[in-house]
Amino acid sequence: MQALVLIGGFGTRLRPVTYELPKQLIPIAGKPMLYHVLDLLPREVDRAVFATGYKADVIEAYVRAHPPPHLQVTTVSEAEPLGTGGGMRNAGDGIGDPFVLLNSDVISDADVAGLLAFHRAKGAYGTMLLHEVEDTRPYGVAALDPNDRIERFVEKPEPRDAPSHWINAGVAVWSETVLAGIPKGRAVSFEREIVPGTLGRGVYGFRSAGFWEDAGTPERLLRAQRLLFDAGRGGDGSLPAASTGLGPAAVGRGVDARGASFGPYVTLGDGVVVERDAHVENSVVMDGAFIGAGATVVGSLIGPKARLSAGGRYEGAVIAAEPRP
Ligand code: GDD
Ligand code: MG
Repeated sequence: MQALVLIGGFGTRLRPVTYELPKQLIPIAGKPMLYHVLDLLPREVDRAVFATGYKADVIEAYVRAHPPPHLQVTTVSEAEPLGTGGGMRNAGDGIGDPFVLLNSDVISDADVAGLLAFHRAKGAYGTMLLHEVEDTRPYGVAALDPNDRIERFVEKPEPRDAPSHWINAGVAVWSETVLAGIPKGRAVSFEREIVPGTLGRGVYGFRSAGFWEDAGTPERLLRAQRLLFDAGRGGDGSLPAASTGLGPAAVGRGVDARGASFGPYVTLGDGVVVERDAHVENSVVMDGAFIGAGATVVGSLIGPKARLSAGGRYEGAVIAAEPRP
């Protein structure tokens, strides 16, 4: 079986880091968020098609250098952003029936094997994983009948128009035939333009009880990182050699943090240097970044090769080596 993974969007809310690095490659709890998404796939899914656009070349090079285990990946990129539906149409030729559809920016412990079993038991045309949230405004919202069939689906409704608190969690199973109904060659929102018209064919909601976060903003990305560490998905969690403080931390190769201190929930990429008496907590520090002596970094995203000066205080900051493209 194949998965179709949507990897577009400019990551505007994670700038300036995303001028260089597509958001899907930002590491959280030790590896790019995209790879945490791929980890959810059961062994039955052995191939994936990446529908890429923004920084497709960066994604392709990374995937070639770090092939995801148990998965044969092909990438199909768009010259212009085609939206979620347009991206599916552009990349989905020969995907097979059914296929798994994944957004690439949601961190969860979704039970995809359970989702597939449910989809088959219902004889469904499509099945969406649903997660319950208080504020549904940024999401697609589903109303279910007593048999878990989706009766209504509204993308990003005003609160008064939201039919429930169950949102599209960005993990689904669809019949291949859904692709033929997507117009070719223009931008299409799958959720707005296509999903409502499929409901008559039997689309179901599979309610998830576990954790879930859309990692599209710095605050949410760091929350997703905490969830992953707490779920034991951040490696062994130990601190760099000759540093002090509290883990968990995910530490890359060649990190030098002698004499530095840490608070919980930190990712340090390859070759990161944290000088003596600096303190880092609840943050992501990407490959090759440098944190000067005595600096404090809390709740921040530090991009590849960024340099933070000695004694600086960074709280809730997003810093890149090149602050502009
Ligand atoms: N190939 C391609 N081309 N992919 C795209 C494009 C595009 O033009 N635009 C967005 N994507 C990818 C994103 O990378 C992401 O993985 C996925 O499609 C969803 O796009 P977002 O831009 O992140 O949408 P959203 O977060 O506002 O809403 C979506 O996700 C919610 C859950 O987080 C919808 O699917 C909602 O229904 C859902 O609730
Ligand atoms: Mg999103």
